[in-house]
Amino acid sequence: MISNKIGIIGTGNMGGAIIDGLMSKGIVSSNNLLLNNRDIDKANHFYNKYKTPVMEVEELIEKSDIILFAVKPKDIDSLIPFLKKYNNKVLISVLAGITHDYFVNNLDAGIQVARVMPNIPSTISRGVVSISYSDNTTDESRDIVDMIFKSIGEVYHVAEERLINISTGLSGSSPAYIFLIIDAIASVGVDYGMDRTTALNMVIDTMIGSAMFMRDYSDIDSDTLVSKVTSPGGTTIEGLKVLKEREVLSDISTAIKTVIEKSFSMERKV
Ligand SMILES: NC(=O)c1ccc[n+]([C@@H]2O[C@H](COP(=O)([O-])OP(=O)(O)OC[C@H]3O[C@@H](n4cnc5c(N)ncnc54)[C@H](OP(=O)(O)O)[C@@H]3O)[C@@H](O)[C@H]2O)c1
Repeated sequence: MISNKIGIIGTGNMGGAIIDGLMSKGIVSSNNLLLNNRDIDKANHFYNKYKTPVMEVEELIEKSDIILFAVKPKDIDSLIPFLKKYNNKVLISVLAGITHDYFVNNLDAGIQVARVMPNIPSTISRGVVSISYSDNTTDESRDIVDMIFKSIGEVYHVAEERLINISTGLSGSSPAYIFLIIDAIASVGVDYGMDRTTALNMVIDTMIGSAMFMRDYSDIDSDTLVSKVTSPGGTTIEGLKVLKEREVLSDISTAIKTVIEKSFSMERKV
């Protein structure tokens, strides 16, 4: 259990998911999890659920060892003035595009920062969470931050901060495309007369099973895996021909590259 005081500013979708993860896994005691939200009712919801104290930003920052920002990127500037007099806090940001340099340039050069990119399945504790630590972050701080995010998913450390933008393409945005791909496959079943619930669940289970199969056989290249499903003159090969002719896979790569480029272009250093 983490004995430090953790303050969360912003108790919306992502902040709320982290609160739920921490409390449901017993990683922090309720009196050590301090909350603030602009609309206080959203924070009070968690007080009613877990008895986690709710307080003003100034008090939260003063009392917390670790401060997690889960506001929208546009809202971070208004919180910086409250941090100016401290240089000993560990800051965690899940804000898209807000870099280590943003905090260093606005606060103390020695401030410890964890830049984190979770994804939407984090809200059901099945997330992928990429973390980039500023060079000065201590091992103790890293262990605590890792523990926080292991409560909502699988944690991946990226070696350089710029790789957070790559994570945005691979795990941050890609759930949107995976939802659409699952829906597109299931809808064909519906067109042919299968009920929607059965079709959707069948494809979801196929997606989960295929992903686990691929992980189990991660030493085998994808062409060999595909060959396990295809046989000459069979059904699968006909679908593969269409995917190749229409360059569907190349289009998916282009979409992910576009996400990554957009992610780089949105970065803020000041
Ligand atoms: N959702 C995701 O899947 C996801 C994935 C990766 C990263 N993120 C990052 O997570 C952050 C939050 O996203 P979200 O989806 O959780 O947004 P959200 O549901 O809108 O939550 C943001 C919360 O911050 C509060 N807030 C805004 N300004 C504040 C201030 N000055 N002081 C205190 N609270 C303030 C808002 O309160 P009010 O409602 O009262 O304004 C709201 O409850 C974003 O920066 C986003 O880049 C989200």
